[in-house]
Amino acid sequence: MKIGIVGCGQFSGVFADLWHIHPEVDQVWVTDVIADRADKLVERYRFAGTYNSVEEMLASDVDAVCLFTQRWTHGPLTVQALEAGKHVYAAVPMAVSADEIAAIIEAVQRTGLIYMMGETSYYNPAVIWGRREAAKGAFGRLFYAEGDYVHDMDNGFYSAYQYSGGDDWKATASYPPMLYPTHAVGGVLGAWPTHAVSASCTGVVDDRGDRVFDREVSMFDNDFSNMSALFELADGGVMRTNEFRRVGHPNQGAHESRFRYYGTNGVMEQGTLGATFTTRDTIADISDQFVTGSGQSDEDAEDALADVDPALRDSFVSGCAPVHDRTRLPSSYAGAHNGHEGAHHFLADDFVRAIKHRQHPPLNAWIAARMNLPGIVAFDSARRNGERLPIVDHGDCPTPVVDTEQPW
Ligand SMILES: NC(=O)c1ccc[n+]([C@@H]2O[C@H](COP(=O)([O-])OP(=O)(O)OC[C@H]3O[C@@H](n4cnc5c(N)ncnc54)[C@H](O)[C@@H]3O)[C@@H](O)[C@H]2O)c1
Repeated sequence: MKIGIVGCGQFSGVFADLWHIHPEVDQVWVTDVIADRADKLVERYRFAGTYNSVEEMLASDVDAVCLFTQRWTHGPLTVQALEAGKHVYAAVPMAVSADEIAAIIEAVQRTGLIYMMGETSYYNPAVIWGRREAAKGAFGRLFYAEGDYVHDMDNGFYSAYQYSGGDDWKATASYPPMLYPTHAVGGVLGAWPTHAVSASCTGVVDDRGDRVFDREVSMFDNDFSNMSALFELADGGVMRTNEFRRVGHPNQGAHESRFRYYGTNGVMEQGTLGATFTTRDTIADISDQFVTGSGQSDEDAEDALADVDPALRDSFVSGCAPVHDRTRLPSSYAGAHNGHEGAHHFLADDFVRAIKHRQHPPLNAWIAARMNLPGIVAFDSARRNGERLPIVDHGDCPTPVVDTEQPW
């Protein structure tokens, strides 16, 4: 298959290269509105070539496009690509409004094409562990869970937004924390198969005074830099999510996404460094299950991003953890650069499997909607002083999901 990458900024290269070395992928093509970035990526990884625009790429014979454009651009580009007959992989988030999400689901249903959202927390070691233990019943009845995405603006996001937004970067750096909910919500729902039905959220108005979270400057009319939301779940449980951007927290050597699952028989609590699993009469330190190996670094990518976001740079060198089952992956991924606590290999492989078997991936449009809509509604709630608001549900994926457990 031929894969086209849209957006050659900070994040796309490492994923594009994983598709490039996948045995089922013949060619990788790229495009960026800043042509120089596309040229450099082709040169660095020896990809097939560039297209001058996304329209040119959509008119070509690529089978699938993978969106790595700015956070607020994915909804319309996804529908445009599906309408052009292409399968779509989109980096998170899926979209920034309920209407955009409904339009994607409608287009996926109508075209029968594959859509996948690349939510890294789905293959976060703590979430894989939680998913397995929940399926075994180790928690008893799950009734409460927490997911946090803790990424301080001073730890890399200023430079990342400057690289991304150019002269107008302050207008974009105010991106509302709750419109990036998937690293927190996705890790809860990735282990606990339910969905949110209502939300109440409170935002902390930023007081730095540097016009980054300033409603007059913000293209999102946003001045919240930290947000906390409480969600009612369909099975009667409760989920709490924190999205923090002004927080005294390191970006290296610490879990940036952290999860805690509370059941009637067992509790898993993960913090910045370690994790425990407790029952009524046992306490187990399970931290070592979630420690990722050093993996292989991608030195070219690291050099290219040396002045950008150190958190992102660090993500290129992390390998897998003991809970990751690598036997399903193609042998060409052994020793390949990885990232986000071992998630990249599994996400890249899931998308190829879904296209090959023409079956929706685990992170399909319906699941992606359940990981995104809670944040969109929570942001509305925060702007309405915490009013509890209902969350629409688009239901389960209507057809069987592709088997990702079998080796190739
Ligand atoms: N853990 C994760 O899942 C994770 C981590 C980092 C980034 N991301 C996501 O990856 C995406 C990309 O992030 P990034 O940091 O690389 O962003 P970036 O701003 O560095 O790169 C985006 C690139 O897309 C290009 N672009 C924008 N619109 C385009 C269009 N219509 N056609 C062609 N090119 C276009 C821009 O010129 C830019 O080079 C974001 O959506 C972000 O949310 C996810």
